[in-house]
Amino acid sequence: MLTSLLIAIDGPAASGKGTLARRLADYYHLPHLDTGLTYRAVAQMLIAKGWPLDDAARAVEAAKLVDLGNMDREGLSAHGVGEAASKVAVISEVRRILVDKQRDFARRPGGAVLDGRDIGTVVCPDADVKLYVTASAEVRAGRRLRDIEGRGGTADLAEILSDIRRRDERDMGRADSPLRPAPDAHLLDTSDMSIEAAFRAARAIVDGVLATRNGA
Ligand code: C5P
Repeated sequence: MLTSLLIAIDGPAASGKGTLARRLADYYHLPHLDTGLTYRAVAQMLIAKGWPLDDAARAVEAAKLVDLGNMDREGLSAHGVGEAASKVAVISEVRRILVDKQRDFARRPGGAVLDGRDIGTVVCPDADVKLYVTASAEVRAGRRLRDIEGRGGTADLAEILSDIRRRDERDMGRADSPLRPAPDAHLLDTSDMSIEAAFRAARAIVDGVLATRNGA
C-alpha cells in the first residue's frame, strides 16, 4: 500500500487547476495548498503599502511574512491581485522563500495536493502524480468572466483575454521557474471538458498511478 500521496498540479491562469486540486484533495483526503495564494499575498502586502511591485527588497520582506495557515483566499482572489502576483513572482529571492514554505507543506507525512506553476518542475519534482492542466486562452477567459459575473461583478471579455495572454507570457517567459509541463507530467486539456469530466479524467490518472504503485 502507498501510505503517502503527493499530487502536483500545474497550469496557466484560469485553466481549472485550482478547482481540480480542491476536488482531488477532498476525494483522496489530502491537505491542499494553492501556491498562487502565496504570491498573491506578497503582491497584496506591497499594494496595501503603496510600494512598487518591482521593489525586490520589500517583496522579500513581505515573502518572509507569508503565513500559509493564514491566507485570505477571498481577499486575494481579485483578478488584479493575480496580475500583480505574476510581477513579484519573477523575483528569484521571493520564489526561494515561498518555495521553502511550500516544500514544508508538501512534506506532510500523508502527502498533499499542491497547485501552481512550478510544482512538478521545482517545488515537488518527486511528486507521485504530476498533472499539467491547460485550456485555450479563449476558454479560460470565458471561465474567468463567468466567475467574475457569478460573484456579482462585471468585466470585459476582450480585456480578460488580453490579461490572460499577458500573464501566460510572463509566467512562461520568466527566467526563474517558468511555467512548463514537467517531462513526466500527465497533460489534461480541459478546453472541451466540464469540471466533472476533468475531475473524472484526473482521478483516472491518479488511480492508475496508485494501482501501479500497489502492484495491481
Ligand atoms: O494561480 P494564481 O493565478 O493564483 O497565481 C498568481 C500568479 O502567481 C501567477 O500568475 C504566477 O505568476 C505566480 N505563481 C507562480 N508560481 C506558483 C504559483 C503562482 O509563479 N507556483
